[in-house]
Amino acid sequence: PTLKESRVVWHSAEVSREERATAGATVWLTGLSASGKSTIAVELERRLVAAGIPAYRLDGDNLRHGLNADLGFSAEDRAENVRRVGSVAQLFADSGAVAVACLISPYREDRDRVRAAHEAAGLKFVEVYVDTPIEQCEARDPKGMYAKARAGEIKGFTGVDDPYEAPASAELVIRPEDGTPTELALRIMEVLDR
Ligand code: PPS
Repeated sequence: PTLKESRVVWHSAEVSREERATAGATVWLTGLSASGKSTIAVELERRLVAAGIPAYRLDGDNLRHGLNADLGFSAEDRAENVRRVGSVAQLFADSGAVAVACLISPYREDRDRVRAAHEAAGLKFVEVYVDTPIEQCEARDPKGMYAKARAGEIKGFTGVDDPYEAPASAELVIRPEDGTPTELALRIMEVLDR
């Protein structure tokens, strides 16, 4: 049976947003593997918490050890990965925290669905495109994944033989020359403040 036909009913929130101490939001960092998403996310999380704002990082790589351990890297699995993390991020945002999601999230449609769900719920969604050229990601290659993908040992690696669709209207686009992770975290915080 579909959710509608089943006996699953939605219980609306009993604690209003106004009653909570802080207004939550989701910051969504998207970009290639080794683009620097996680580093910026860690810095942002640390700065938000230091400023007394509850924040929590949802790192694609880490969540694949638990919540998303059943998922691979097909387009369908990546879509499901983004859907689940988007849903969790929305819960964090609804609770008054800032969810800092960092996932490759290569498909525009998947990311836009997460944005639409946030907006429908009246929650702020800040998309940050970490626009590091693939040559630089590949030169960094911290886990040796690009080398394996080029050697054909990993198939369907984003940017090598799998697509990455850049955001069309991200709230913020970050390039390597734009500053240190700390400076970039502060810029994201300015966007959040608005
Ligand atoms: S996605 O596309 O949003 O579902 O990916 P994500 O959950 O962010 O996971 C990306 C990390 O998984 C490793 N990995 C791959 N990435 C891309 N394509 C393929 N085929 C692949 N296989 C494994 C990769 O190391 C990514 O790590 P990060 O932290 O992004 O560098």
